[in-house]
Amino acid sequence: MSEVCTTPAVLILLGPPGAGKGTQARMLEETLGLIQLSTGDLLRAAVAAGTPAGMAAKSVMEAGGLVSDEIVLEILRDRMMQPDVQSGVILDGFPRTDVQASALDLLLAETGQGVSLAISLEVDDEAMVARVAGRHTCAKCGEGYHDTFKRPTNGACDKCGGTEFKRRSDDNADTARQRLATYHAQTAPLIAHYAGAGVLRRLDAMQDIAAVSRDLTRMVEPVIR
Ligand code: AP5
Repeated sequence: MSEVCTTPAVLILLGPPGAGKGTQARMLEETLGLIQLSTGDLLRAAVAAGTPAGMAAKSVMEAGGLVSDEIVLEILRDRMMQPDVQSGVILDGFPRTDVQASALDLLLAETGQGVSLAISLEVDDEAMVARVAGRHTCAKCGEGYHDTFKRPTNGACDKCGGTEFKRRSDDNADTARQRLATYHAQTAPLIAHYAGAGVLRRLDAMQDIAAVSRDLTRMVEPVIR
């Protein structure tokens, strides 16, 4: 008899800038009904809103460093309290430090949960600077594109038809290199943390977007059924 999942799935996408975390999280959200929870997006919203947390985060993000655990955890806890996350979440860009990983374990333990799966998107550093530097998004709906790998058809967003696109202020080659260095120093060690917990899977994310999506869906489907 197959096991019945009684608690919502908690999935983590690990990987450096440009690995495809956001692209794949949004696809899983659409196909499997999970909620994408991106600390990068939450922080950018705080910056745009001019909140105290956003004002403290802005310069750190532009320099390619990590925002303080205190700020990130407060933002994440607030988001995790929203009712929609009860259907299961994909954490995109969180956790990024030992402190954040431990805090997540504690937060989930409060409701008898644990991390269902942590998927490491494995990529070559050299390709990541080009991926990040070519990224742009639809200004209207947020759909992600790339100058080379995923271009909008006829110059308009394939999803909503919008014709305005925007680029992130931290998506330049220098900051991308610093973000990669930060990832290797502070976040990559979490791969061993989740391997030790028995929930790690590795995925070749140098494949094209559709192939990564296919492999990821195969990994995720069994833990959410
Ligand atoms: P965040 O927004 O999380 O950025 P990141 O981790 O650097 O990741 P990216 O968004 O750059 O890459 P991605 O893996 O999502 O790639 P994407 O799918 O867009 O964080 C930004 C900043 O906020 C951090 O630097 C930090 O300061 C702060 N922050 C956030 N979370 C924090 C935390 N927990 N603690 C502390 N600070 C935090 O793809 C990139 C491009 O490549 C796109 O154009 C896409 O179309 C293309 N692409 C995707 N997949 C493929 C593929 N397979 N082949 C070809 N092209 C592809």
